[in-house]
Parts: sequence; C-alpha cells; structure tokens
Amino acid sequence: MKEKILEKLKLYNQQHIIDHYMGLTGDEQNRLLNLLDYFDLDLIFRIYGDFLKAVTKKEGLKISPANIVPLPKTPQEEAIREKARDLGEKLIKNNKIAVLIVAGGQGTRLGYDGPKGTFKISPVKGKTLFQLFTEQVMAISKRYSARIPLIIMTSHENDEDTRTFFKDNRFFGLGEDNIYFFRQGMLPTLTPDGKLIIKDRGQIATNPDGHGGSLKALNDSGLLDMLLADGYTELFYCQVDNPLVKIADPVFLGYHYMSESEASTKVVRRRNVEEKVGVYLNFNGQDGIIEYSDLDPSYMKALDEKGEILYWAGNTAIHIFSLPFVKRLNSHGYALPYHCAKKTMDIKTPEGNDNTIDVWKFETFVFDAIPLAKKTCAIEVKREEEFSPVKNMTGVDSPEKARDDMCALFRRWVEGAGAKVKDHIKIEVSPLFAIDYQEFKNKFNGKGVTIEDDIYFGD
Ligand code: UTP
Repeated sequence: MKEKILEKLKLYNQQHIIDHYMGLTGDEQNRLLNLLDYFDLDLIFRIYGDFLKAVTKKEGLKISPANIVPLPKTPQEEAIREKARDLGEKLIKNNKIAVLIVAGGQGTRLGYDGPKGTFKISPVKGKTLFQLFTEQVMAISKRYSARIPLIIMTSHENDEDTRTFFKDNRFFGLGEDNIYFFRQGMLPTLTPDGKLIIKDRGQIATNPDGHGGSLKALNDSGLLDMLLADGYTELFYCQVDNPLVKIADPVFLGYHYMSESEASTKVVRRRNVEEKVGVYLNFNGQDGIIEYSDLDPSYMKALDEKGEILYWAGNTAIHIFSLPFVKRLNSHGYALPYHCAKKTMDIKTPEGNDNTIDVWKFETFVFDAIPLAKKTCAIEVKREEEFSPVKNMTGVDSPEKARDDMCALFRRWVEGAGAKVKDHIKIEVSPLFAIDYQEFKNKFNGKGVTIEDDIYFGD
C-alpha cells in the first residue's frame, strides 16, 4: 500500500505530502497512509482537472418550464389533493415510508459549534431541530399506527457528537431501535492549484462529499437493503436545517405515488429573481434542478408575459425517492456529477501560525439524481408553511427568521381555531400536540379565548 500511495502522490505533484510523510513517526505515517488509502486519488485529481478545464460547466442546455402540480385552486384540484392524502396515509399505515434526514453538512455559514441538528430553534421551548423532527416522526407513527424508521446521515466530523446527543436525550422518546445513523463519505479538500492540504501531523483536510453522498452511503451502510427487505418502498428525504418541514407529508406521498414517480420534489415560488435557490425546471427534456450558481442569469431573471418569474419553482430540498430507484442508482455504478465549492479555510501553518487559505471542496448534490429517474413529480407548497431553512447567523435564512415563521404559522392555527392573540407574542405547538392545523383545531377550541402571553401547546 505504501509504495502505491507514494507513487500516486508523486504522479499528482504532491511532493509536499511526501516530505511531510518522511518527517512523521511510524504511527503518524500509518495514519496518513490509511487516510490516503480511503480515497480514490485518481478520481479526485480527475475531478480537479475537469474543473480546471471547466468541462463540467452547464452550457448549451435546452431549458423550459417544468411540469409542476400547482397549489389547488378549483374544487377538482382540491379533490385530487384529498385523494393524494388518502393514498399517502395508506402508504404510511402499510409501513412503506422511511424518513432520511441529511445532517452531515459543516454548517459553516451558521457558525455554530456542534452538529446543526443540535441547534435550539423552537420559539418558546428552545427545542433543537433534532427534537422537533423526532417528535414529528413519533406523532405520525402514533397517528397511523405505523413503524417509520428515522434515519440520520452524519459525517465523519459530527457522527460521534450526533449519536451522543440522541443517546443523552434518550432518543427523545422515539426508541433507540427506531433510529438509525450512517456516515457519509468524505473527499480531500484541495487548494486552487490542486494540492492536498496538511491539517495536522499525519492528517490532511477533508470535507463531506455533499448531500448527494447520502444515496450512496445509505446503500453502502447496508440500511438500504434492510429497508427493502422489511418492505419499505419510499424514502422521505429532507435536510436538517428546515424546522417547518412536514415530515412524511401524506399529500406529498400521495402525489408521488399517483404519478408513479421515482423522485419527487416540493417547490416554492422564488421570492425574487435574485434569490439564491436551486431552480426546478426542464433541461434537455427532463425535469430536474439546477443550482442558482450553475444557471445562466438570463434564465434566473426571465419573466413571463405577465411579468412574473418564468422559472418560478425554487427547490426546498424536500424529496421522496423510491427505494428501488436508489438501489438502481447504486447498482449501475453510482455516478452523480461533482460540483466545486470555492471557499476559505482556517489552517495552522507547519510553523504553527494561523492562516486563512482559499480551498476547493468537491461534492455531489442529491437533486442530480432526479433526471435519472424514470418518472418524476413536483408539487408547489406554501413557503410560509413549509420552508424556512436555517443557514446564516443573521438576516436571510437565519434562526430569527425561522422562529418568526414558526410563530406566524402557529398564530394562524390558533386564530383559525377561534382565539384572539395579542401582537408580538411567541407561540409554539409541539408536534406531539398536533402535527397539522386540522388536528390542532380538533384539540383546541379558541372561541372566547384571548392569548396575552407566550404560549406552548405541549403533549
Ligand atoms: P448546505 O448546502 O446548506 O450546507 O446543506 P451546510 O453544510 O449545512 O452549511 P454551509 O454551506 O457549510 O454553511 C444542506 C443540507 O445538506 C446537508 C446539510 O447537513 C444540510 O442538511 N449536507 C450538506 C450533508 O448532509 N452533507 C454534505 O456533505 C453537505
């Protein structure tokens, strides 16, 4: 192994790593060799070469609007939606649905020290993202007498902390045997001139391989086969950063099932042409998503004849993937394309000084699987009800915005149930009290009630 790796390092002009290796102790050398052996170095440097030549740029695509189920406006559309709900509920009751939350990201923009799922987000009780999701899974499982496995993807960096967090919180009551964890893959981080980065003695800088890595790592972990063997057929997929997500939404599941889709997506109207969000559209005859940074600005800014955004569908990163489709992706040489994120990174120089350097991180995106599906489906949902991701410490997509959105949603529930609510108060409804407005109204009669202080509707 040693000779092979040193040879490869030479081939790819990584003399600085060889020099570093020579100065290490035996144990440190072994650690470095094992780490390098984990990677497919040929692949990494091929991807790097592709980005240098810009061969991965999306050019010459034939783009048109995608096929999307809009919010229902007519009684007929309402009826189809109710049929979808029925079908989705049946799928849940029949134990066909598993839930995957991808939580392997580095959360650099939020700047929070710890796995993002452990961030306290709920407006009154300060529950963490993980607790909110786990309680939703518990509530849905109870409502439909179903067993819904909750699967969490971690990274090498946050796996241990994530597992410990769940353990310390006694799995929030869901039961240890219902929660599964698996780690995504990682890739070496490179400098813009294609060099591996020494992070510590015997260690090089790495990054998780993107949320697209989830579909491969689910397979490699053995969990995919376990789910299929247990009769599960659909995977509800969401990100750890959206506290408004409706986990295993029966309506969404129903549309996915009715359309015999292998990959489905929830979309929201883009706020404006500047919003940094992936766009759901049709390219080269196939519906799918293109990241805003990869899409020509003329499409990002295009308006229709009424002056509205032509490519209006923003990606929420809420999907359903059929499990046989995920299996097929893995059986035919899993190959989602790589994207390159150009970021900065703080390092210590060999002399022990702090330094910030430019780096290239390669990753795959889960939505690149959509055009590989035989059939796809997308439905429009209301942003204010379902999508408020926590990305930045302040401003757009911040925790404060997400808390405001949660309060506003619950205020509509409370007022809809007949109560009067004073301005500027915080409201929180536990998923264990109600997972949707209908359930809330059945449990809470607000007629004649005025709410004057912050309030929590608990289990
Ligand atoms: P983002 O692209 O927002 O990245 O991830 P992030 O790591 O959370 O934040 P930044 O960009 O460093 O500030 C969207 C979702 O995909 C998951 C994240 O955990 C989040 O739920 N993700 C991202 C992974 O699970 N693995 C990855 O390699 C990248």
